[in-house]
Amino acid sequence: PGLNTLAVAKGKTYFGSATDNGELSDAAYTTILKNSKEFGVITPGNSMKWDATEGTRGTFTFTNGETIVKFAEANGQKVRGHTLVWHSQLPSWVSSGGFSAAELTEIIQTHVTNLVTNWKGRILHWDVVNEIFNDDGTYRTSVFYNTLGEEFVSIAFKAARAADPAAKLYINDYNIDGTGAKSTAMYNLVQKLLAAGVPIDGIGVQAHLISGSVPSTLATNWASFASLGVDVAITELDIRMTTPSDATKLAQQATDYGTVVKACVSVPRCVGITVWDYTDKYSWIPSVFSGQGAALPWDELLVKKPAYAAIASAL
Ligand code: XIL
Repeated sequence: PGLNTLAVAKGKTYFGSATDNGELSDAAYTTILKNSKEFGVITPGNSMKWDATEGTRGTFTFTNGETIVKFAEANGQKVRGHTLVWHSQLPSWVSSGGFSAAELTEIIQTHVTNLVTNWKGRILHWDVVNEIFNDDGTYRTSVFYNTLGEEFVSIAFKAARAADPAAKLYINDYNIDGTGAKSTAMYNLVQKLLAAGVPIDGIGVQAHLISGSVPSTLATNWASFASLGVDVAITELDIRMTTPSDATKLAQQATDYGTVVKACVSVPRCVGITVWDYTDKYSWIPSVFSGQGAALPWDELLVKKPAYAAIASAL
């Protein structure tokens, strides 16, 4: 039936995949990507980031993001917008700083307002802020935090809500999969911001995981997030291993994918799962984690791995 069809039948909103512009010329790849029975939501892996959309102050480039939005729309799929305010892939005109608080506030508002308005009504979720915490739960140093303190978070969310009231607004991070200091920091911040009236609709759990080391507290942690009254989305799932893969490692990975999907199924407000691309052919993992890879449910030849069947049977 396809993973998205199965997810929807389980009461979820979608099963989805990230993609990137360069991959859309690979016809064998897009034949699978465009199948809305497999993927109900597409996330642009890079083309909505700050460096791709406002590389020069006040000059906005939407072409590559639009290509992916049009691809999704042509195939009956929705889009997760990714991402508005992030310390990485940030052009140097922003990251080099030197702004007053008022000036950086205006820069954030202009960036968020222009992107969200441009795609108004066409984006299911926006990852409004991304990766703001260190693993110990303290705030990450960035031009945003250094200039504005945690206020930059509410500035971004309020601008996004004003520009597209229909989009669900997410705060997204990694290593908030299981319980721990970083998850506690996320819980506490979202609780505080909701109490202050900041429009946050969901917590995005990236879930860049390691095969054989998937936390045992996924469902507990996601239910805790949901108890705040927000949705939870698994936004960038991949489960890496030391390459090359073999049958034993692929079986472990299948078990791990099943664990993650079952945890989402068990939490009613876990609304959907996105894999950070669907095939090992286009995974970001080998370029960043040396000697690691084979992290996705389809292999480099676009053949389904054991993980695919494990996801399907967990849904
Ligand atoms: C990654 C992309 O997949 C790569 O192509 C790019 O070179 C770096 O960024 N967390 C995120 C994503 O929120 O935006 C990152 O995507 C992966 C980690």
